[in-house]
Amino acid sequence: MSFKIAIDGPAGAGKSTIAKRAAAELGFLYVDTGAMYRAIALGLLRMKADISSETALTDALSRIEVGLGYENGTQKVFLNGEDVSSLIRTEEVGNMASSAAAKPQVRAKLTQLQREIAGKNDVLMDGRDIGTVILPDAQLKIYLTASVETRARRRYKELCGKGEAPSLDEIAADIRERDYRDMHRETAPLRQAEDAVRIDSSELTIEEVTAKIISLMKAKRQECSA
Ligand code: DC
Repeated sequence: MSFKIAIDGPAGAGKSTIAKRAAAELGFLYVDTGAMYRAIALGLLRMKADISSETALTDALSRIEVGLGYENGTQKVFLNGEDVSSLIRTEEVGNMASSAAAKPQVRAKLTQLQREIAGKNDVLMDGRDIGTVILPDAQLKIYLTASVETRARRRYKELCGKGEAPSLDEIAADIRERDYRDMHRETAPLRQAEDAVRIDSSELTIEEVTAKIISLMKAKRQECSA
């Protein structure tokens, strides 16, 4: 039986950095499901699809194929065979991903693929609905969160590091808007699973959170083999 760890939480809580490290330490396959939504979003943006129209969305989705691959242990995401891993990390794609992710057709397209991957491997999967919808039987569920202020400051520093001159207020407003959309959509909204361990990373370092997840995992493994 494969072992599954689900990590859910809002944008900017540190999920992917921490999940990547914990997966590497545990020897698990890391699956960043946000990247899959982002790849679909990039496809929709390129087609200039009107996602408010169900027919237009269905038609666009029929022309979008998302794939995952791994290169030296690093996840690569493919849009119709093209490696788009670095093209999907923009605010425009992130916002489109959040809007498109509210559409049941978009979610249905990725659900099966995500479950297939988890069925074949020990996975650490991160996203918004992993513990609640995709892998409700995951042996360990984490809900990783942080205050809006902390998340905005982290994003601000990241953008400054890239040579941009962002506005902290705008970033915070954007995060609030994205949280609202992700938490209030009808299909698979972001929420903490009842059996998830909640970790607030506002006052913790990446190393501290990673260590916490690894120790929770070790305890789970012992519990399962007892
Ligand atoms: O984690 P991220 O910022 O890369 O995700 C981009 C968007 O995709 C996010 O705003 C919500 C959506 N998403 C989702 O609805 N369900 C997931 N499992 C992962 C991401």
